[in-house]
Amino acid sequence: MSTPETPHPLDESAIERSVEEAIAAFAAAGDLEELKAARLAHTGDKAPIVLANRQIGTLDKTEKAAAGKLLGGARGKIQKALAARTEVLEVEHAERILVEETVDVTAAGRRRPLGARHPLSVLQERVSDVFIAMGWEIAEGPEIESEWFNFDALNIAPDHPSREMQDTFFVEPPEAHLVLRTHTSPVQIRSLLSRELPVYVLCPGKTFRTDELDATHTPVFHQFEGIAVDKGLTMADLKGTLEHFARRMLGEDAAIRLRPAYFPFTEPSAELDVWHPEAKGGPRWIEWGGCGMINPAVLRAAGVDPEEYTGFAFGMGIERTLMFRNGVPDMRDMIEGDIRFSQHFGMEV
Ligand code: PHE
Repeated sequence: MSTPETPHPLDESAIERSVEEAIAAFAAAGDLEELKAARLAHTGDKAPIVLANRQIGTLDKTEKAAAGKLLGGARGKIQKALAARTEVLEVEHAERILVEETVDVTAAGRRRPLGARHPLSVLQERVSDVFIAMGWEIAEGPEIESEWFNFDALNIAPDHPSREMQDTFFVEPPEAHLVLRTHTSPVQIRSLLSRELPVYVLCPGKTFRTDELDATHTPVFHQFEGIAVDKGLTMADLKGTLEHFARRMLGEDAAIRLRPAYFPFTEPSAELDVWHPEAKGGPRWIEWGGCGMINPAVLRAAGVDPEEYTGFAFGMGIERTLMFRNGVPDMRDMIEGDIRFSQHFGMEV
């Protein structure tokens, strides 16, 4: 900004120019900040009009009156222009703030991932719920189990291949005869020993075998074991229970079939297949687990009279169930802890 010379207090056209310059400067100010600078330049201590006003004292009496009138009028015009511009810029400022600080209440909120429960836990609870709805109890047993509960009481002979080092994790020292349980079946015995008859119990939990980790095996996995011991239970009760369970898990079109098999702790024993109507790649039979009528030797080991009571048991893998129920091709995805895997299953609790 150029500093104009001080006009003579009686130089009408010079004073008029100062007034015009002031009005032009106010008009050019784009906001209140710029207007403040223009105000200081044209009405402040060093403004031409103010400086001219100060010289009035040097004039003689008649000149003083004329100059006073002239400069008073000039200052009035400047003040008026300043007030008008201030008002315009203040309104603009208020409007801009309204726009700039607007909150869009319709804008989508920020998404915060809440985390999801692991699909294996969710499935385990679903399985449990089906049995709770039938009046069964949920039981748990220790993951470090005595050999007696894991093998002997279940009629698994000392020379049975599952008792070898390459299949079972033995816990040191060997004289403690402890293993990481290789199945949930020891809970059959524990439930019978700790409960009054009749017993209807489901035991979901971790199990361990010395398998290499690959798409269909993992050394730590989960099973659920069902045990029912009551007067007069038959294979028909086992079949009806499993059929109901299959339908709850895979829909009303699901079905089951039993194929003769051998387990030391059940007699007769069967492999359980399930008809999965919505299997990936089309409906088909899928091997699901083992089952059978509890071997009288097992009932006896648990202090139950097999002449009076009969029972059935079944055991299935939870990872395996998740695989065919939800089309998970690789078991490793379930244990690697990548949350993208769990998120895919949603927030189901
Ligand atoms: N415990 C058996 C397994 O792990 C499954 C099973 C349970 C079979 C109960 C029969 C009865 O393979």
